[in-house]
Amino acid sequence: MKKLLEDMKERALKELDAVKGTQELRNFRVKLLGRKGELKAILTGMGRLSPEERPLVGQIANQVKVILEKAIDEREEFFRQKEEEERLALERVDITLPGRGPELGGVHPLTRVLREIEEVFISMGFQVAQGPEIEMDYYNFEALNIPSHHPARDMQDTFYVSGGILLRTHTSPVQIRVMEKVRPPIRVISPGKVYRRDADVSHTPMFHQVEGLLVDEITTFGDLKGVLEEFALRVFGPRTLVRFRPSYFPFTEPSAEMDIGCVICGGKGCRVCKGSGWLEILGCGMVDPAVFSFVDYDSQRYRGFAFGLGVERITMLKYGIDDIRLFYENDLRFLRQFM
Ligand code: PHE
Repeated sequence: MKKLLEDMKERALKELDAVKGTQELRNFRVKLLGRKGELKAILTGMGRLSPEERPLVGQIANQVKVILEKAIDEREEFFRQKEEEERLALERVDITLPGRGPELGGVHPLTRVLREIEEVFISMGFQVAQGPEIEMDYYNFEALNIPSHHPARDMQDTFYVSGGILLRTHTSPVQIRVMEKVRPPIRVISPGKVYRRDADVSHTPMFHQVEGLLVDEITTFGDLKGVLEEFALRVFGPRTLVRFRPSYFPFTEPSAEMDIGCVICGGKGCRVCKGSGWLEILGCGMVDPAVFSFVDYDSQRYRGFAFGLGVERITMLKYGIDDIRLFYENDLRFLRQFM
């Protein structure tokens, strides 16, 4: 038996050298020292030994067990360290590699043109005011002298939220909100989103306008023309032609629309200007005294002018974009052209 144990020890130690990893080692340990392992199998033969021999063999068996356990433990520790080293080597970061730079975004063409428009008016002394997109009927229509039977209030054009609440159809309600809060002199522009039930190549249900309002004691139609002509020349270039045509808005009197000479054909007539040589770019007029009465301004003392322009339309004309939907499709091939 003593021989059996010694042989097993020698063989086991040799086999241990061939074991190649943690999992294999775990199996090896069980096979050798487990409850149904080789050592146990040898020791079941102890019953056949004489009482004198038993303690001696038991002692040897114990020594063998201790030696093998220690050898396996050492091996295990060796594998653990090796695997740890391998893991660290895998995770190693090569700090000499060049870094990945952040991708630079660009400003959306509408934002870009809006900023340009704001800068032009700010340089002429205007301040920027904001108003809510979910608006009351009173500000969007009533106080702007648009009576209840007016076609602009039709369900065909306006998104209603609930009784008396709607998505503003233009930025003009901000005129009323500003005049309710402050007294003249007033010089404000109000950029923002507006909503109309409309969708085709030149209309989207949401688009952007910039409203303008100037109120003071001495204000004339000549001031209106001067400010808006300056705006057109700054945005479309110093050789831009400008003309004013009579028009109608319930909240201005007299009212006009401003055209610029067609930026596509230079005035000769084309598809974009429908052969006229002119492009309409905004609506404007002198503030109607009826509007002043809603905000308790003395219309004997104060005069004002107002205008409203569409940011999408101006951007399309400035860059020759023929489909308004391009602004909202997030196609990078389109957007990258403005970087
Ligand atoms: N609110 C008008 C529109 O949306 C534009 C406008 C504003 C006209 C101010 C005159 C004065 O069409």
